[in-house]
Amino acid sequence: MTQSKDSVDLSRRSAALALAAGGAALLSGCTGTAGAEPAKPAGTATPSGAPSAAPAGIAPAFAGKHEVKPLPFNPSALTGLSEKLVTSHHDNNYAGAIKNLNKIEGEIAAVPKDAPPFLLGGLKQSELVFRNSACLHELYFGNLGGDGKPSGAAEKAISDAYGTFGKWEEQLRATGLSLGGGSGWVVLAWDLYRDVPYTFWSGNHSQVEVNATPLLVMDMYEHAYQMDYGAAAARYVDAFFVNLRWDEVNRRLERARKAAAALRA
Ligand SMILES: [Fe+2]
Repeated sequence: MTQSKDSVDLSRRSAALALAAGGAALLSGCTGTAGAEPAKPAGTATPSGAPSAAPAGIAPAFAGKHEVKPLPFNPSALTGLSEKLVTSHHDNNYAGAIKNLNKIEGEIAAVPKDAPPFLLGGLKQSELVFRNSACLHELYFGNLGGDGKPSGAAEKAISDAYGTFGKWEEQLRATGLSLGGGSGWVVLAWDLYRDVPYTFWSGNHSQVEVNATPLLVMDMYEHAYQMDYGAAAARYVDAFFVNLRWDEVNRRLERARKAAAALRA
């Protein structure tokens, strides 16, 4: 079956708009950012009681209305990651990023037209940090709660790209350990232009591959493991792999491949 030129153009525009509006996070299912969620009728009350309607002149995606998503699994059911650690991580670090993102968006909206450029520049820098932190945390929690057994298209794509699945796992673990005692993220992403998986590290929530969408995210900030493992980051990485949810990784891959096909059309 062939696609009409109009439908191809529409697909390309949709993919480009998705990337422009919320980055690759939209494709990978990061929905804590309000703009990625289905639109609600104006004035509809949110779970927190705040109205969803944005202030006049401000797009809902930037109106300081981001909400904390609940953990997508029972925090007492993980293997090797305690309920206390996981709950603290979610309620303090992730929720803190959402709270700060909302504050920053409010401050950006209030910057006067005649303000010196550096004022907005500083706020935009913080906005990117909190926006990415919120999204990366949602992706991180979203790929936990599984049985850790690789499966499906993701396992095959990784094996094909890296020679063997074990070689990729070795690289991801080593990248994570390079951040042990420091801070950062390790991300397995789908390169939307080359159509291959790619592993990278990210510091300060803001160093990301711009042509890719995350498939699997590992938090290497100390708050992700210090409570359970102290400085033994390698034991945390072991626990991370044991709890990985590969069906979610496969779901993200399916969406990424569709987006990549639309961009190449
Ligand atoms: Fe974290």
